[in-house]
Amino acid sequence: MKNNPLPRLDEDQVIRRQLLPHCRLQAGEIWEDPKGIHRVGCIDAANSKQVSSLMSGQQASLAIQDPPYNLVAFEVRKLNDFINWAENWVRINDTVLSPDSSLYVWIGADQKNAFQPLPDFMVMMRKLKNFQARSFLTMRNQRGYGTQKNWMSVRQELLYYTKGNPFFEAQYTDIPKILRGYYKEVDGKRTENLERGKSDNIRPGNVWVDIQQVFYRMEENVSGCYAQKPLKAIDRIITASSQAGDLVVDFFSHSGSTLLSCERLGRRCFTADIDPIYCEITIRRLELWRTAGRLGWQNGHPFEDVLPSFSHSTVSKPPAPAAEQALQLDLL
Ligand SMILES: C[S@@+](CC[C@H](N)C(=O)[O-])C[C@H]1O[C@@H](n2cnc3c(N)ncnc32)[C@H](O)[C@@H]1O
Repeated sequence: MKNNPLPRLDEDQVIRRQLLPHCRLQAGEIWEDPKGIHRVGCIDAANSKQVSSLMSGQQASLAIQDPPYNLVAFEVRKLNDFINWAENWVRINDTVLSPDSSLYVWIGADQKNAFQPLPDFMVMMRKLKNFQARSFLTMRNQRGYGTQKNWMSVRQELLYYTKGNPFFEAQYTDIPKILRGYYKEVDGKRTENLERGKSDNIRPGNVWVDIQQVFYRMEENVSGCYAQKPLKAIDRIITASSQAGDLVVDFFSHSGSTLLSCERLGRRCFTADIDPIYCEITIRRLELWRTAGRLGWQNGHPFEDVLPSFSHSTVSKPPAPAAEQALQLDLL
């Protein structure tokens, strides 16, 4: 088993210089899937011209957006600037989403800074009349950040908005129903909740406690990524809010989780990242799945051909193991 995690590839300039010549996309370019299913654009989510060239007139029924959150692990801008920027890319999403469609946005709340930007984002969304607020979900992380003097921070927020009347299918967890005793009369007969349910398992509801945070022992781990979402979470969104053959968009691709979920679940995906290195990782992850049936590189990495003997001494600062990177994110 290899154990050669990469550092954050957005920050390490030494490694970036080594990797950039191996990236297929440069700013403004679009990769077409040789199978004609998906696309990856090296574009700015807030640039309407670039987004429309990625879409080429097609409309999506689902958008899953995971922008930088304006918190510790990301570049921090003035709150107003961040919200104006967010409004810009959400308006662009509106133009690429079909009249009956869903928009999911992962966002954070900085408890060290008045919980920005989550509430500000929610208030901004009230202006955009095409979107109706539908649910405020929380995914519970396994590892948290906290001291003995505060509640451990283990939450990851996900906002769900809809346009028109989109498809939605209830989802179930792997957790069996164990609680009995919620009785109700149906057709004159007293029934217990297990008899009435559509499944023996519980639904996730809007608090997801059953999803493992990505770390280096999981096959899906992509070393070099600092903000990877678990495939199980993305699969759940996609199966709830889209149907086979639908087009799904994600303009903050990073590790390519949305593209990979779409490929496995029979959806088409147009995805993008502003950074050519994360675009290359996205394409390589799809190729790895298609050629080797693997979800990620576990504790290897996506650039083993370019940096076969990568060791910690080749970088300007020691790399954070994936689990520590995940912990960094728990600051969010
Ligand atoms: C939080 S990460 C997304 C994580 C992703 N959901 C995953 O599971 O791997 C945010 C990504 O957005 C990219 N990004 C930042 N600003 C962008 C912009 N204006 N347009 C497109 N991508 C951007 C960053 O390079 C980073 O890869």
